[in-house]
Amino acid sequence: MMGCFSSKGHFQSPQTSDAQPVTSEEQHEIDTAITEDPPVIEDHQKKLLRKSWLILQNDISKVGTVTFIRLFDSHPDVQNSFMPFRGLSNKDMESSAILRSHALRVMATVEKCIGRLDRPDKSALILTELGQRHSDYQVKPEYIPLMGPQFVLAIKPHLENVWSEDMESAWLTLFQLMSYYMRQGLYRS
Ligand code: HEM
Repeated sequence: MMGCFSSKGHFQSPQTSDAQPVTSEEQHEIDTAITEDPPVIEDHQKKLLRKSWLILQNDISKVGTVTFIRLFDSHPDVQNSFMPFRGLSNKDMESSAILRSHALRVMATVEKCIGRLDRPDKSALILTELGQRHSDYQVKPEYIPLMGPQFVLAIKPHLENVWSEDMESAWLTLFQLMSYYMRQGLYRS
């Protein structure tokens, strides 16, 4: 198995020749995703998420695509595991209909979660089932929590005027929640 728990309960990065070491921020994302209690999104964070999502509406496709290109750039092992994009250059990926379509699907999931911020039980169900399906797509559980930090870097330039540390932390918390349930689904399948 490529990723496994160490004796401290930490996830180990996949040991492939082109794998990048997991940064402390990523390790935090991974650790949070496997704690027993799901992360809680506070009311002030919900407001920030709804406000920034409204601004992001026009850039959804771009943000989703850039998130994945950043993810693949920083973790080539993730790209290699992603069958449809194996071996494509950045330029090819930017114009790839499959990448855009997956990016839009990810963003549609984010939208569903934003629309259900006051119904976490509903989001939990959607995300757990989505995680289960990702096992059919051969996605490794440790790849899911890598998305949040890349997404934050992708949206930042679109939210320059309203960006704050609180907003960053609200988005990271939402992605921790998504990772938490998707990974539960992946492990369950
Ligand atoms: C926040 C994280 C992610 C979300 C919300 C997400 C969402 C989705 C959605 C909604 C689909 C459509 C099919 C379905 O509903 O079952 C899908 C398909 C797929 N996902 Fe993800 N995904 C995420 C992360 C990843 C990652 C990290 C990878 C691989 C490295 C990946 C690989 C795939 C593949 C191969 C498919 C099938 C092909 C396709 O539909 O484009 N996903 N994903």
